[in-house]
Amino acid sequence: MTDAPALQRVDELPPDYRAKLDRMNLLPAWTLLRAVLPVGAPAQQARAAHWSYKELRPLLMEAGRLVPMEKAERRVLGYVNPGLQRERLSTMPSIFFGLQMILPGERAPNHKHIPAAARLIIEGEGAYTTVDDEKLHMDEGDLVLTPPLHWHDHGHEGTEPAVWMDVLDHPLAVPLDVSYVTVGKLADGYNEQPDVGDTCYSCPGLVPYRAPGERAPTYPMRRFRWARVRDALTATAEVSARDEAVHLRYCNPENGESVLKTMEFSARVLRPGETVQLRRCSANCVFQIMQGQAEILVNEETFACDRHDTATAPTYANITLRNRSSATPCFIVQVDDTPTQVKLGFYEELA
Ligand SMILES: [Fe+2]
Repeated sequence: MTDAPALQRVDELPPDYRAKLDRMNLLPAWTLLRAVLPVGAPAQQARAAHWSYKELRPLLMEAGRLVPMEKAERRVLGYVNPGLQRERLSTMPSIFFGLQMILPGERAPNHKHIPAAARLIIEGEGAYTTVDDEKLHMDEGDLVLTPPLHWHDHGHEGTEPAVWMDVLDHPLAVPLDVSYVTVGKLADGYNEQPDVGDTCYSCPGLVPYRAPGERAPTYPMRRFRWARVRDALTATAEVSARDEAVHLRYCNPENGESVLKTMEFSARVLRPGETVQLRRCSANCVFQIMQGQAEILVNEETFACDRHDTATAPTYANITLRNRSSATPCFIVQVDDTPTQVKLGFYEELA
C-alpha cells in the first residue's frame, strides 16, 4: 500500500472555470474524491451512543399529555445519533430506533409505507398491532414485524401506557427517494384468531405443506414471542461451552433468511459475569437490553446499560459485551444492517 497523493483543492481552480462548471451542474470530482473515498478507513459520522430508558421514560409519558394521537399519527421519540444530521431522523446510517407510546383506548391510524418496521415491546399489557387482518398481541419483549407496504395500525386494550421500540429502515429509503406513506381508514374489526406464530409456525422445523412450485409468503410470520426466544437462549446456554457465545438469529421460517430484507435481528444471552468480544465488521449495530444489565464497550467508550437501554456501535468498531451481574443472565437483542451490506457486496470482516 502506498500513500495517496494530495489532490487538488477546488480553490486551486480559476474562479471563472468553477463558475462555468456550476452553470452546467458539474463538479470537479477530484476535489471531493477523498470525501467519498477516504484512504484506508471510512469517514464515519455515526457515533457510539447510549440512551437510558429510565432517564427518557418521563419525557415519553409527557408526550402522552402534550400530543394527542391525531396530531402525531405515531407518538414516537426518535433516537437521533449525535454524529448524524438531525433531519435524517436516524439512529445509525441505515437504522432508526424510536420509542412509541400509546395510551389505553387509543388507536394509531391504519397506514402502510415503503420502509420496513419492527417493534420490540418494552412495557404495558394489552397493546396490539394489526398487519393486514392479522391481530398480533404485543407482550413484553416480543418482536412484531410490519413489512414494507403492509397495512398496519396499533391499538391498546390495557389500562396502563404501552411502550415499544420502533425499528425502521427509513434511513435507507429516504436517500433513495422511495419513502412514503399511505394513510387509510381503521378497520371495523380484525381476525381474532391466534397469529400464525402460535399455529402453523409454532413448531420449529414445521411449515405449512406446499406442493412443489407453490410459493410461500414473503413475510410468513410477523410475531416472535420473547418467552420462546428467551427459553431457546437459556437452553442453548446450558449446553454450550463457557467460552462459546450464545447467539441466535430471528429468521423467516420458510427460507431461513433475515426476517426483514434490510435488517438482521438476533438475540444473545450473556451468562452471569460473561464477556463476549464481537467480530470486527462493517455492520452498523444497535443493541437493546431486554433483561439484565450490560456493559457495552465500543472502541474507547464504555456504556453501563440497564434494562431497556439502547446503545449503538458504528462500522468497524471493536465491540465487547459484558454482563455486569455475577448472578443473573443478561439478554440483548441486536439489530444490524448485515443483510443490506451483504446484498450490496459491502459487508466485510476484519481480523
Ligand atoms: Fe407504520
